[in-house]
Parts: sequence; C-alpha cells; structure tokens
Amino acid sequence: MTASKHLIALLKSHIARDDDQFLSIAMQAAAHEARKGHGQVAQQLRALVDQARSGKVERARRPVPIAQPKGDLAALVSVSFSETRLASMALTDELELRLKRVLTEQRQQHKLVERGLQPRRKLLLVGPPGSGKTMTAGALAGELHLPLFTVVFDTLITRFMGETASKLRIIFDAMAETRGVYFFDEFDAIGSRRSERNDVGEIRRVLNSFLQFLEKDDSDSLIIAATNHVELLDPALFRRFDDVIQYGLPDEGVTLKILQSRLVGFEADKLDWGKAVELTAGLSQAEISRAADEAAKRAILADRSNVTDEDLSVSIQERGSAAHR
Ligand SMILES: Nc1ncnc2c1ncn2[C@@H]1O[C@H](COP(=O)(O)OP(=O)(O)O)[C@@H](O)[C@H]1O
Ligand SMILES: [Mg+2]
Repeated sequence: MTASKHLIALLKSHIARDDDQFLSIAMQAAAHEARKGHGQVAQQLRALVDQARSGKVERARRPVPIAQPKGDLAALVSVSFSETRLASMALTDELELRLKRVLTEQRQQHKLVERGLQPRRKLLLVGPPGSGKTMTAGALAGELHLPLFTVVFDTLITRFMGETASKLRIIFDAMAETRGVYFFDEFDAIGSRRSERNDVGEIRRVLNSFLQFLEKDDSDSLIIAATNHVELLDPALFRRFDDVIQYGLPDEGVTLKILQSRLVGFEADKLDWGKAVELTAGLSQAEISRAADEAAKRAILADRSNVTDEDLSVSIQERGSAAHR
C-alpha cells in the first residue's frame, strides 16, 4: 500500500474514532516503511504505537472518570467510557434509523421535555449472539459521551434471591443520581418467563421488582437490556420498554461493509468481494469481523500488503466450521 492509502485509511479510522483500527493501520505503515528499507522511520512508528497501546501517553480528550461507582454499587456494575461510534458499526438502513432516532431524541431532549414529551431511553435489544447488541450499548454511550454501566449479573443474582430486589434498587437509584447508559446484558437471566431452576417463585419476584423499578424510573439515564433468547422473555416486559429493537444475521450489504472496513489498510483491488460475501452465509457480524482479522493476520505475517481471495476464504471457512461445530 502506498503512503497516501495509509493516510486515507488513518483519516477514516480517526473520523470513526476507532482507535484500534487507527493504531493497526499505523503498524501496517511501519511494516511498509521497513520493507522499503526505512528502518528508522519504521522503528519510530512502532515505538509510538506501542506507547499509545500501553496507555503511557496521556490522552487529552478522554473524559475524566467522574462516575466511578462507590460502595455497594461498585460490586453491581462495571463502568467504562466507550469510544465506539455508530459509524464504526455496519447496520441495515432500518437499524441505523432506529438507533439514530434514539440519539436525536436524546440530543434534543430539551425540545421534547418542554412540550411534555419524553425521549426514548428504555430499550430492549433482541437478536442472535454476535449481531452487535453489546456493541450498540457502547456506541450509544460513546456517541452521547455518557459512562457505560454494565450490570454484573453474577453479583446481582445470588443464591439469596431476596437480596436481589434491594440490589436492583441500588442500581435504579444510581440511574437517577448519575446520568449514564445502564446496560443489562443477557437480560433473560432475570427477564425469563420460566425457569429451569426450582426457585421459580424467586425469579418471578425479581422480575416483578425489575418491572416496577423500570416503570417508575423517570431519570434521564438510558436503560438498555439485551437478550439472545427473546422467546424466554416474559410478555409483560415488552410494553415497559420505549423501543424493542430487533437484530439479525447480516445481509450482503452489512457483510461487505464489515469485511471492507476491517481490511481498509490493505491492497484489495484484485479481491473478489462478492465471492467472500457468499462464503460468509450464516455467519454472524462477530464471526465475519473475526474472519476478516484472521485474513489480515495471514497477510501481515506473510509480509504482504495485499489480502488475497485465499486469505479470506480460508479464514471464513475456519470461522464457519468453528461456528457450526
Ligand atoms: N453491526 C456490526 N458492525 C461491525 N462489527 C460488529 C457488528 N456487530 C458485531 N460486530 C463485531 O462483533 C463483536 C461482538 O459483537 P457483540 O456486540 O458483542 O454481539 P452481541 O452482543 O449481539 O452478542 C463486536 O465487538 C464487533 O467487533
Ligand atoms: Mg452481547
């Protein structure tokens, strides 16, 4: 790849605020310089990337973590500051519209509130594993510059389920106190209609108190629940959310976008993208990203600046058989 192609790829990843992609393109540029015999430049580039990756360089624009959870809350949620943006997700038009609507309503909530209306902020994301639900929670938090609080189910749901309701209260109190994105991943753990365990009564109580808290909540935090098992969810749940957003396997457009964005730093003029897309049939967004990264690794380790049809087809088939084993 030429220096100018690297520059374009760097800019694209900067605009998408994709730091990982940015640094991996910088590494590719370093490899490129090394191949041209520019050892010193290559070394300098690598040292800078290493420094950035190890976090030694102060990142000026990173938000100050004012929201470190304290006390009981600390064990119940883990906080992070996401730098993911919607632009780094490959989405169908419909999904993109729905997520952008959430952002627009959040960003202009004062207009709605003035007229007695509420922005959407209680979202249920449903769909198969690897389709981008967790990434969405990160992207919404990143776009809105809000801390992302992920609920840790292991400590929320203990053997002593009676405690769970009071733990839920701590989380819902925090929502009112600290505006953020509160993410209940693998929500079927409490949203289940039935339970194989013999403490069905307890699960039911937990679900009921969750529903009550959710209904009462009038904070300005976002509450996002995600599940791979929509069929397990209690029907009573659906109408308590402002939006139920459906995820699915990627269509061809989404697949192509994922492959191309993961391989943006490589020469790919001769690649048969159509063929690669065909081979990914049945794979999730997560598996396709992984396959593209594997193809990139093959190229890098063979000191090539181009990814070949074979790199891609081998990696996709490997992913495919891992997925369907
Ligand atoms: N729509 C998407 N666009 C780009 N990458 C995606 C998308 N969906 C998933 N991925 C990739 O797959 C990884 C895992 O996806 P994740 O959000 O954890 O899926 P889920 O929560 O639905 O199981 C993400 O970190 C990302 O690298
Ligand atoms: Mg997930």
